[in-house]
Amino acid sequence: KRYSRITGTGSYLPPRRVTNQDLANELAQRGIETSDAWIVERTGIHARHFADPQVTSSDLALEASRRALEAAGCQAQDLDLIIFATSTPDMVFPSAACILQNKLGANGCPAFDVQAVCSGFVYALTVADAMIRAGSARRALVVGAEVFSRILDFNDRTTCVLFGDGAGAVVLEASDTPGILASDLHADGKYVDILCVPGTVSGGRVLGDPLLKMDGQAVFKLAVGVLEKAARAALDKAGLQDVDIDWLIPHQANIRIMQGTAKKLKLPLEKLVVTVDQHGNTSAASIPLALDHAVRSGQVRPGQHVMLEGVGGGFTWGAVLLKM
Ligand code: ACO
Repeated sequence: KRYSRITGTGSYLPPRRVTNQDLANELAQRGIETSDAWIVERTGIHARHFADPQVTSSDLALEASRRALEAAGCQAQDLDLIIFATSTPDMVFPSAACILQNKLGANGCPAFDVQAVCSGFVYALTVADAMIRAGSARRALVVGAEVFSRILDFNDRTTCVLFGDGAGAVVLEASDTPGILASDLHADGKYVDILCVPGTVSGGRVLGDPLLKMDGQAVFKLAVGVLEKAARAALDKAGLQDVDIDWLIPHQANIRIMQGTAKKLKLPLEKLVVTVDQHGNTSAASIPLALDHAVRSGQVRPGQHVMLEGVGGGFTWGAVLLKM
């Protein structure tokens, strides 16, 4: 039987680190009041990274991908699939995946974007796993990268303090032994309005508002419930139980949502990988960033069971259970 396994991880953060106090000072110049204390208490975020204006998602992805390829011990030319999860692509088209492919020098292999906002990485990983198991790929690069700073409304303190920029990547290879054990994906389009960037490009102009809108409380209420269900569905499919999870790596949106999910899964908080404090919410990049951080810091070790969980605009959500 053919399976897929993660053989390397990598991540990259743009160098400009902005603390809550830095952001509060910037917002104060616009007459908007916020504080480190408010942001930490409601979200667990202390700092985020913002890319410089000329830097794109594919630039961040390139650095993360090089690190993942190095960790996997392979070259870009060895890739036969690239899937790029992002909601902030470099252009309307071609895909960020095609732009990244050319920057890497992996020209020729199939490359496409997946758009599922903050669930993008679990969606992309599930697609790559299915293609590898079906025999249509052997070695895939799966990337999540975002420059959410481009779509933030810095006049809206309820959203602009939550997000950051960054990239994470994994190399996923065909294997005789199971790596990805199960996944469970969902979407419900009736919730489009609670988290969206409603604008688009039309007739040479931006039509509608191109900045992020969110009903934070509605998102919060939905998130914990759907994350528990998706994790339990993935465990069921793999024939495992919550006690078998060594590490929970949820989308890093808000420490309260993450801890609420861990509690519902009866996991001690020591099993929760947390990077939201230093990265903020980096949307599709948050899970591979946190995974890479956990691997490189020696938290996640070979043979352990890891539950990845995404939730975001759409509404979309899902879980991927894997063995490292
Ligand atoms: N600084 C200071 N005060 C603020 C700020 C801020 N940055 N933002 C809001 N406030 C004020 C509000 O104006 C409100 O004041 P009022 O009572 O005078 O009207 C007060 O704080 C409370 O506002 P709430 O919106 O009720 O605060 P809440 O406790 O719900 O926290 C938050 C807001 C952090 C957004 C929370 O709802 C949340 O975390 N929701 C989930 C959001 C999320 O994680 N989204 C991303 C997930 S999906 C994805 O990643 C795309």
